Amino acid sequence: MEILLLGSELLRQKAGPVEEINGDIALLASGMIEAMHDGKGIGLAGPQVGVMKRIFVVHVEGDVPRVFINPSIVGTSEEQVKYEEGCLSIPGVYTDVIRSGTVKVQAWNEKGRRFILETEGILARVILHEYDHLEGVLFIDRISEVKRNRINAKFEKRGKA
Ligand code: NI
Repeated sequence: MEILLLGSELLRQKAGPVEEINGDIALLASGMIEAMHDGKGIGLAGPQVGVMKRIFVVHVEGDVPRVFINPSIVGTSEEQVKYEEGCLSIPGVYTDVIRSGTVKVQAWNEKGRRFILETEGILARVILHEYDHLEGVLFIDRISEVKRNRINAKFEKRGKA
């Protein structure tokens, strides 16, 4: 699985729903988990591997890998917290991003089972980051314009090299 980098148009498009959770989707999910592990990432969303479907995987330290299909954010805390974020599509860039500290999300797993998860800390952070990918939003959209322009310029140069 190839991970698309900043500058790719697909990263800026909104993903569509998974119509049916079947063996192909389960296979996609396990392939995404593998690609995430290979890249030493803690989250990966469909659009990052060119699959414009509403699916993402996360695996934070001390937890099991989790698959989120057709997720919806049911609630977030008003309290905002700062965390350093990175992204497999923007390698080498790490910067503080402010988001809600807790999230309540509803989704289906790769077995077709619906679940609701309310969480905080790093897991909440990754879920919010990955959910953004399904909307065509990247974490650099949530930082200052000056910083964002610098990062975009760096990747434009890389693309032409
Ligand atoms: Ni990302």
